[in-house]
Formats: sequence, structure tokens, C-alpha cells
Amino acid sequence: MKILIIGGNGTIGRKVSERLSEKHSILIAGRNSGDVNVDFSSSDSIKSMFESIGKVDAIVSIAGDAKWDKFEHLSEEDFYIGIKSKLMGQVNVVRLGKDYLNEGGSITLSTGILADEPVDMTTSAAMVNGGIHSFVKAVALELKNGIRINAVCSDLVEDSYEKYKDYFPGNTPVPMHKIVNGYLKSVEGKINGQIIRILA
Ligand SMILES: NC(=O)c1ccc[n+]([C@@H]2O[C@H](COP(=O)([O-])OP(=O)(O)OC[C@H]3O[C@@H](n4cnc5c(N)ncnc54)[C@H](OP(=O)(O)O)[C@@H]3O)[C@@H](O)[C@H]2O)c1
Repeated sequence: MKILIIGGNGTIGRKVSERLSEKHSILIAGRNSGDVNVDFSSSDSIKSMFESIGKVDAIVSIAGDAKWDKFEHLSEEDFYIGIKSKLMGQVNVVRLGKDYLNEGGSITLSTGILADEPVDMTTSAAMVNGGIHSFVKAVALELKNGIRINAVCSDLVEDSYEKYKDYFPGNTPVPMHKIVNGYLKSVEGKINGQIIRILA
């Protein structure tokens, strides 16, 4: 398969890219790195990316930011950071990317544990993750040409543990290979409309 991985050079993305490249042809997209540049918070940038690469068999998105802060400090603009990047960035990848998928193709989005188990300072990040879950379940009912969609919802990964451990007291981080397997399940399997939860 020809697979586009947005965020394919990130902490999780690089391991997913390595694994998928064993059997497939991989194209990596990132803001500043990869085979093609995209800022997926802009629809125009997403369109240019797809116009330059043409049709693919699978699209994997492993990117997206949201602002972490105490609820009382988050402004309306702060909430829009997560809405424009992680939420609408991924929604727009589906909205525009479906027309660049071959029949029977798949889309895999990324969310995270905060959707189900928020911690302090994550009202924005948790909200965005939960929104993507609802979007995936709903859009799976409407995508045509045999196109499947799933989201991989991971717990804190081992490789990010040092950076985030103080935000997740008592959390047991997930080994990277378990998270990579979640992406494989979506891309190479047949499941559709699923939230693939990867916990330690
Ligand atoms: N790390 C974890 O423990 C964990 C757990 C659960 C969920 N997640 C979620 O998984 C996703 C990836 O996490 P990560 O830790 O691998 O992140 P990361 O190391 O920061 O990597 C993010 C990647 O996404 C790309 N990217 C970021 N913003 C982009 C944009 N607007 N347009 C296009 N590409 C963009 C970056 O490209 P450039 O480097 O070129 O800028 C980078 O390759 C995030 O949404 C995160 O919330 C992470």
C-alpha cells in the first residue's frame, strides 16, 4: 500500500512509519520535516499536499496540538488552538483526503487517554479528543467507496514519559510497540468506526 503519515517524524509517528515501511511504501508529511510539508490547521495547506502527492491507499494522522492550562486561565483563543489543530486539522484531513483515497482505503486518526481520563489542566485537550471520537463514529457511517476510518487512542507512551510524567501521577506508560500495533490494526485490518484504545 501507499501510505501517507502526517506527523510521521514525531515521537509516535517515527515508530509507526518504521514499522509500516517494512511492508508498505510510506510518504511522511510534517510541518517542517518529511517528504512533503503540510500545516494541517490550514485547509489550503492540506489541499496542496494532496494535489502534490495524488492518490494513496491509507492516510494516518499522528499530529495535533492543544493548549494545556488551568481552565480559569484558558481564553477563548486558547481553546481555538486545539480546535484548529488537533480537531479540525484531523477533520479536514478526512474531509479533503477521502477524495484522494483509492477504493477500500483507510484513514487513521490520533486521540489520547485524556478523552476518557482527563487530568489537571486538560479541559481543552480532553474536549478535542472526545470530539474526534464522536466524529469518527459518525463519519464511518457515511464514507463511501469502502473507505474505513478509526482513531487510535493511546495512553501516555514510554518515550514521552519523562516529559509528561508530572501531569499523570500514578500513570503506567505504554510500551511503544503496543501503540504501533494499534495503528497496524487500523491500517491493515478491516475494522471501521472504532476507537482503538491502547492502555498499559
Ligand atoms: N506522546 C504521547 O504519549 C501521546 C499519547 C497519546 C496521544 N498522543 C497524541 O499523538 C499525537 C502525536 O504525539 P507525539 O508525542 O508523537 O507528538 P510529537 O513528537 O510532537 O510529533 C508531532 C508530529 O506531528 C507533526 N505536526 C505537528 N503539528 C502539525 C501540523 N499542524 N501540521 C502537520 N504536521 C504537524 C510534527 O511535524 P514537524 O516535526 O515537522 O513539525 C511532528 O512530526 C498528538 O496528537 C498527541 O496528542 C501522544
